[in-house]
Amino acid sequence: MFPDTSPSVLSLRSATLAFDDRMLWKGLNLELKAGEFLAVLGPNGTGKTSLLKTILGQQSLTSGTIELLGGPVARGSRNIGYIPQQKLLDDGTPLRARDLVALGINGHQWGLPLSTRALRERVDSILDSVGATAFANVPVATLSGGEQQRVRVGQAIAGNPRILLCDEPLLSLDLNHQRAVSELIDSKRRELNTAVVFVTHDVNPILSMVDRVLYLAGGMFRIGTPDEVMRSEVLSYMYDTPVEVIRSRGRIIVVGAPDGYGAHDHDLHHVGEGHH
Ligand SMILES: Nc1ncnc2c1ncn2[C@@H]1O[C@H](COP(=O)(O)OP(=O)(O)OP(=O)(O)O)[C@@H](O)[C@H]1O
Ligand SMILES: [Mg+2]
Repeated sequence: MFPDTSPSVLSLRSATLAFDDRMLWKGLNLELKAGEFLAVLGPNGTGKTSLLKTILGQQSLTSGTIELLGGPVARGSRNIGYIPQQKLLDDGTPLRARDLVALGINGHQWGLPLSTRALRERVDSILDSVGATAFANVPVATLSGGEQQRVRVGQAIAGNPRILLCDEPLLSLDLNHQRAVSELIDSKRRELNTAVVFVTHDVNPILSMVDRVLYLAGGMFRIGTPDEVMRSEVLSYMYDTPVEVIRSRGRIIVVGAPDGYGAHDHDLHHVGEGHH
């Protein structure tokens, strides 16, 4: 369990979000501590991105309260690093990877600007950590989806935020870069005690890092450790249909969820064959 003594970064109390008569989540109580890694799971349209927008101050709650670092949420907070859900960057942008990372470092800084050289060194080190050195100087619009995604990760961590909001950051990354990016996010949170909210459709690449899971489904939610939440009884109840959660070789496989959520062909194959 995560130490209770860590300071609270984010606090939601009886938080409810509904659009018209459509309830996304209701009565959400969540206290996120500095350095804590929260995975947010659930099928399409259950309000995962909307939760991040609420934390970003871009979406107000229908009822309940939210506090960030003990105060109200506000747009443009420099305490927040944000990796938006992937949308291809506008083709017209002339910005290069190094420009985006530099924006992440000094885009909202009030203090003395870093010297040109110090800034360049930090940009270079971040580009290197996301494996973007080779394409640092070409317009990002010309990069592949996965390359753009890595640059976005670099931009989000560049400002050393207190909380990092990641909306499906592993999407379109190959396995090597999935590992590299999740390890980078994890080492950043350990180094700076950053709280992480990580929306994903597959918990496996980050399973070893996750402290707690918030699972949204069927207008309900469950919060707890992966062992508490990723259970057949819990998910069957939320989906209102029999769902089986299988543990195999340190991976979690969800079988039978509507939409095939959580079940991946290669996982089923993996189970069926029993070895690889
Ligand atoms: N501003 C808004 N006004 C009305 N409906 C909205 C608004 N924002 C989101 N919604 C609706 O709320 C639902 C949840 O959207 P959200 O983007 O949070 O889902 P999600 O869990 O991130 O899904 P996905 O896995 O597809 O990314 C969707 O049905 C969406 O259409
Ligand atoms: Mg989303």
